[in-house]
Amino acid sequence: MPVAPYPERERFDAREKVRGLAAYAADVRLAGMLYAMTVPAPAVRGRITEIDTSAASAVPGVVRILTADDFPHEVEEGPFPGAARPTLRRTVVSRGEPVALVVAETLEAAIEAAEAVRVSIDDEPFAVRIDQQGAVREDAEGVHAGDAAAALASAATVIEAEYVSPTQHHNPIELLSTTAVWADGRLTIWEGSQNVGAIKAAVAQSLQLDPAIIDVKSPTVGGAFGQKGWTQRQTAIVAQAAIFTGRPVKLVMPRAQIFHVATHRPHIVHRIRMGADEAGRIAGVDYDAAQQNSRGGGFPPEYHLGAIRLYGIDNYNGTAADIRTDVQSPGHMRAPYEHPACFALDCAVDEMAAALGRDPVEYRLAHDTTTDPATGQPMSSRFLNECLTEGAKRFGWARRSPAPGSMVEADGTLVGWGVAGGTYPALVHPVLATLRVTADGRTRFAVAGHEFGQGIRTVLANVLLEALGVEADRLEILIGDTTAAQQHLTAGSWGSFSAAPAAVAAAEKMKAALAELLDGRQIGGTVHQQLATVKRPYLEVEVTQFGPGQDSALLDQWRQYGFAVTGPVYPGFTSMSYIAHFVEVRVEPRTRRVRVPRVVSIADCGRVLSPRTAASQVRGGVIWGIGHALREATEVDPRFGGYLNCDIADYVMAVNADIGDIDVGFIDRPDPHANALGAKGLGEVAMCGVSAAVANAVFHATGRRLRTLPIRIEDLM
Ligand code: MOS
Repeated sequence: MPVAPYPERERFDAREKVRGLAAYAADVRLAGMLYAMTVPAPAVRGRITEIDTSAASAVPGVVRILTADDFPHEVEEGPFPGAARPTLRRTVVSRGEPVALVVAETLEAAIEAAEAVRVSIDDEPFAVRIDQQGAVREDAEGVHAGDAAAALASAATVIEAEYVSPTQHHNPIELLSTTAVWADGRLTIWEGSQNVGAIKAAVAQSLQLDPAIIDVKSPTVGGAFGQKGWTQRQTAIVAQAAIFTGRPVKLVMPRAQIFHVATHRPHIVHRIRMGADEAGRIAGVDYDAAQQNSRGGGFPPEYHLGAIRLYGIDNYNGTAADIRTDVQSPGHMRAPYEHPACFALDCAVDEMAAALGRDPVEYRLAHDTTTDPATGQPMSSRFLNECLTEGAKRFGWARRSPAPGSMVEADGTLVGWGVAGGTYPALVHPVLATLRVTADGRTRFAVAGHEFGQGIRTVLANVLLEALGVEADRLEILIGDTTAAQQHLTAGSWGSFSAAPAAVAAAEKMKAALAELLDGRQIGGTVHQQLATVKRPYLEVEVTQFGPGQDSALLDQWRQYGFAVTGPVYPGFTSMSYIAHFVEVRVEPRTRRVRVPRVVSIADCGRVLSPRTAASQVRGGVIWGIGHALREATEVDPRFGGYLNCDIADYVMAVNADIGDIDVGFIDRPDPHANALGAKGLGEVAMCGVSAAVANAVFHATGRRLRTLPIRIEDLM
């Protein structure tokens, strides 16, 4: 059933942001505050034999230096990052992890003293690259459907290729930071985070405190996208410093240290064999994704969850593995599995289309499906073919000359047009929310959610304003605060997808509660005026919402880990979001520099809840995808461990000058099953397939299949 599109409103927090009024965690200023600096481990692996703090303690202004001795309760990194993170310990497992924390009256004193701490380590041999001796492959669970081996054995055409995506680090403008205060028997933590609930639980576990005395606040986050998804390495350490000193303590971690403690996208080797039958249809795929991991294996390799559902491939053998090495644990980085997997799989599809002489768009259209290849159950909605068709029209695909290297400008510039599809699971968590309307005109909605620029406040405001007819400028969206509502990890594109239906449900409940209060009287006016008329200062409603098939059994897990997600397989259906990207590249004749002057991206995220922030999400994903394809890679130092290009001068990202026209469109058709609003997730699917479309365009421009990212000038010489 067609529904009216949601109106376009400006960003809910736009004015606060452009006027510099939005407060980030490190902006917190408190009386008597102390400044902290971490001391990074000067070795990759080994046991600390001595920490000499004599010179550091002599620096004027130093208040306290914390070491492993201050953390009697040792916490090991487990395979599930929702639990606690290690604090300070006597063993070192990766270069640069914190081994001490200096607390001082000034930042300058903290830095000077941290540099004066002498750490002796009895160090051991290590492997920091997957090809170094000591790196150990450990097979993980895969995803399988049909009989890929048989399909490949009888295939008429087989291609085999290895794709490589490099280690990458998030580099949001906001650095990792923690400010903690211990006062009146309560611990309050401010941290830029996607998961204040997990911080509450994890700090309690690390420091042996009752979670009920811990409050965590993260009202505004300066970029996150996975890096701030779990409790950070410094969090409990800074909290302990605040408890010991009885004063507020702030740590803002330098970017070079962040490269060495934060989660990141691992180095991944994707090996694909793909076979097509006589008619050219892809009959089977054998896809192994081997990723670099820490020794503890903190990040499971789940590359096939999305990839198996990209096209209708019946026989799919998806295997995955960790290569265990001496690095900190990788973690979720924007479409953590789906983005690299769509790169590899969609490039392979493009290679197959080229081998068969088929048009790349037509070939993808021929591989649609209405059922989930992994489970056989129906897809809740799938408009990938509509995305491909609309994108081809807007891009002008019909004017493409098929042969690689055949579109050449008069000056020798090689032009290439590439396409790729992307998909991402529609995941959901339970929601507890309260909506309060007051007679003086205010509206407050409190729910699980974190705003890191993706626009969740704008989405919630958009659906609430439509549903309730209240004033936008007196609406407060209270998120990222453990005192407001039970908080949940905001990631995985489930933030708005989970919270927006709860907002609408709360608005409906509010209207019903008001009607009951008025008991049949018709008094007109806004909800606020009606409350004033009946002399009620406020009215509050609570909603508890579960996703399809969810029940209260999830609530305990949620409280303990700040995480309780299900999907994309729900009872009776599977739900995925989709996107198609069309990319033009231009390769300069002499320098071989690759430019991307234009991109057309059409997404199927069900119903679009906020047109402005939805389009912005897609543009952001496309830009990051271009960075992934042409710029970003963290260089590992095989001699000493650690990372070499650990600042934003040397870690090269796509900047404004790299970005041309990005035309974003939406199918905007409601999903009939996922939730009452017909919405599916959007944030991460935006990025899926972008780097494949770039690589496929480079092939079309030059005839060169480049399978290792990033694609650089020297690859095209
Ligand atoms: Mo998501 S990995 O938090 O962008």
